[in-house]
Amino acid sequence: MKYPRKLSSGSNNTVIVISDAEVAKLFIGDTRSEIGSEAEKMQFSNTVNNLVVKFVRLDYNEILQAEMLVMERIHPIDFRAYETEIRQLWLDIFEDELKQLHEAGFVHRDLRRPSNIGGLAFDNVLLTHTGLRLIDVGISALQKQVGDKIFEKYIEIENKEMAAFSEYFRNR
Ligand SMILES: Nc1ncnc2c1ncn2[C@@H]1O[C@H](COP(=O)(O)OP(=O)(O)O)[C@@H](O)[C@H]1O
Ligand SMILES: [Mg+2]
Repeated sequence: MKYPRKLSSGSNNTVIVISDAEVAKLFIGDTRSEIGSEAEKMQFSNTVNNLVVKFVRLDYNEILQAEMLVMERIHPIDFRAYETEIRQLWLDIFEDELKQLHEAGFVHRDLRRPSNIGGLAFDNVLLTHTGLRLIDVGISALQKQVGDKIFEKYIEIENKEMAAFSEYFRNR
């Protein structure tokens, strides 16, 4: 199906532009991901800080026959145009905010996409003029849902992915 104003078609979902300020992630019939869960995780992270993209609303588009997760639209910029000192500042804030989310019981789990899946390694991390932001909480986890043991394991992995991102972002 061809969608109007398509922004991107990721491995799982298509994202379309709603306006200059909003985009919508489409959930259609057979997608395995669950819109309610994704919305809940996004809203939870939004109560902690601004790192994850802001949830706006859930909607249904009759023409597209699609459930829509409407969210803040991020307009990314390219980090390679900025000197390492500035990149380091953005990284420091990013690391702090990620830690806040972890301490609140949220782990993103998709900073770095597995190498066997195509696309850019860190395409869920977007740089804006006000700093780094995260999108795509599709496989994120809440401590209250997965329990302490699994959560700790996820945090361990996330910290490794954060270190890999930091290396990439400072040196590329
Ligand atoms: N809030 C947003 N603002 C701008 N672009 C977005 C936003 N959310 C998603 N995108 C774009 O759509 C792509 C796919 O969205 P994402 O949530 O990562 O879905 P997937 O599960 O398919 O990876 C992203 O890589 C990005 O290019
Ligand atoms: Mg993604």
